[in-house]
Amino acid sequence: MLTDRLSFARDAGALVLPDPGRLCVFGARGDDDLSPLGADLQVVQGMKPEHDALAARGVDVAVAPSGEFAGALVVLPRARDLARDLVARAVALARGGPVWIDGQKTDGVDAMIRSLRAHGTVDPVISKAHGKLFRFEGRVPDDWRAGETVLPSGFVTRPGVFSADAPDRGSELLAELLPEGLKGTVADLGAGWGYLAARILERPGVTALHLVEADHAALECARANVRDPRAVFHWADATRARLPDPVDHVVMNPPFHTGRKADPALGRAFIAAAAGLLKPAGQLWLVANRHLPYESVLSERFAKSADLSNDPAFKVIHAERPRRAGRPRA
Ligand SMILES: C[S@@+](CC[C@H](N)C(=O)[O-])C[C@H]1O[C@@H](n2cnc3c(N)ncnc32)[C@H](O)[C@@H]1O
Repeated sequence: MLTDRLSFARDAGALVLPDPGRLCVFGARGDDDLSPLGADLQVVQGMKPEHDALAARGVDVAVAPSGEFAGALVVLPRARDLARDLVARAVALARGGPVWIDGQKTDGVDAMIRSLRAHGTVDPVISKAHGKLFRFEGRVPDDWRAGETVLPSGFVTRPGVFSADAPDRGSELLAELLPEGLKGTVADLGAGWGYLAARILERPGVTALHLVEADHAALECARANVRDPRAVFHWADATRARLPDPVDHVVMNPPFHTGRKADPALGRAFIAAAAGLLKPAGQLWLVANRHLPYESVLSERFAKSADLSNDPAFKVIHAERPRRAGRPRA
């Protein structure tokens, strides 16, 4: 992890930092120990739970860099186009100062090193804890900067957001199975760039739709894609989100990964959160890969649930009569 490689590099005397000067750190996570980088830094982190964890530790954290910087460090994300964009932004921001890049092998750090060697020097390289931390000096091609993608449907997405190249098939299936007569107030937990939200708002009986999304970049896309006045946008961790009032429906395609790791606990936390956001007569509509183990949390948090889909890959669950946390089963 970044923490191991940073402390190793510092102890080996390899971590040359701008002195004096502020460092911009793209993508550090809530539990990363950044002390080897000194105190004069700003972390750019758009995922709300990580952002809040950093802020709670007193780290200066923002969704976009602000001010001047004398160096930069990029923690590579999984998505290659986003990784290249961040490296290009870091090189531009550092204005000739040191640029460090860190990544796990599983996030493509070796491929990034190979690409960067064609554009400058990569030295030193610290290999530790299934990843690499290295310094890059050089220029990267202009086309590494990534902008928005406009899909054939007219929706805009950005590199790294969920399902950036096309609507997710699970979300399409859920949208097809949602009743045309859906009415009242609705929440979409993990709303992404807004595909499912746009389909929910095709139902004229919907009076308000709360789009709750942790990824700031995805929510910015949703704001561009969903221009309906019934839409209300929340940059929030859905597992802790509060809405102004309980809602009639939660419609969602919950996340099932944290980074590269499959994490059914996150989907289960979304289901528990949905139960807490619904009115007593509220209903949950959710799509999930068929293998995901959500049955126990559904029966703990809802009195009734049924699978509406015959699809071999996805289940579409309709659940009714939410139970509050800790309330004994009826
Ligand atoms: C499977 S995608 C569904 C996206 C969108 N609803 C769609 O249909 O295309 C799940 C979304 O949940 C978001 N997410 C992950 N963790 C979250 C959290 N703790 N709170 C809110 N959203 C989260 C992800 O960024 C992603 O956009």
